[in-house]
Amino acid sequence: MIRVTDIHKSFGTLEVLKGVSLDVAQGEVVSIVGASGAGKTTLLQIMGTLSRPDSGRVEIGGEDVSSLGDKALSKFRNERIGFVFQFHHLLAEFSAFENVCIPGLIGRRPRAEVERRAAELLDMMGLASRRDHKPGQLSGGEQQRVAIARALVNSPAVLLADEPSGNLDSHNRDEIHRLFFELREKLGQTIVIVTHDENLAAMADRKITMSDGTIL
Ligand SMILES: Nc1ncnc2c1ncn2[C@@H]1O[C@H](COP(=O)(O)OP(=O)(O)OP(=O)(O)O)[C@@H](O)[C@H]1O
Ligand SMILES: [Mg+2]
Repeated sequence: MIRVTDIHKSFGTLEVLKGVSLDVAQGEVVSIVGASGAGKTTLLQIMGTLSRPDSGRVEIGGEDVSSLGDKALSKFRNERIGFVFQFHHLLAEFSAFENVCIPGLIGRRPRAEVERRAAELLDMMGLASRRDHKPGQLSGGEQQRVAIARALVNSPAVLLADEPSGNLDSHNRDEIHRLFFELREKLGQTIVIVTHDENLAAMADRKITMSDGTIL
């Protein structure tokens, strides 16, 4: 589902990724760990087409994304890739339900279909009774579950998460971790999670360790 081949990336004179290759199978949950500054976020952003590598290939679902122009790439990203970050980045003025719908509406999918999917996902996240709450009226764990539902509303090929539980207490952290594996069971979702949490990293099918711009 994801194939990254010989990725190099520098910022100025700092070489952050030094020839990284990685394959992730359909339905696989892969964790990426490593010291701060090892290049984990940089790699995840390149995998997610948010950033372009200096050289190397990124294929998602068999499509070589390096060949896509900016407009096609935005469309591809909206339809095929879901992101969850450490901070939820929900829009404060909108309800949980509306936040989840937004990527579907940006993708110009039929409103009824988007709303049905959003309701289904909020239900799966245990948030059916919170759908009309604004982010400010939700707990940190609930906000993060809304962000996960939002990432999934377009049924992406891959879900990429960067320290998704880094900002949560231990109870909410466990809950979010459990959810990722439930998503794989129920949806066959392919998931890559960057984390500093050793428990979460160990739960994955495969744990990848990065050090100084390479995979060990
Ligand atoms: N846009 C940028 N411009 C310049 N340097 C950058 C940029 N983004 C990242 N870096 C540098 O690249 C290196 C790798 O950063 P990256 O964010 O990938 O690390 P990380 O492994 O995710 O670390 P952490 O665990 O702290 O999140 C760091 O030294 C960082 O300072
Ligand atoms: Mg990072």
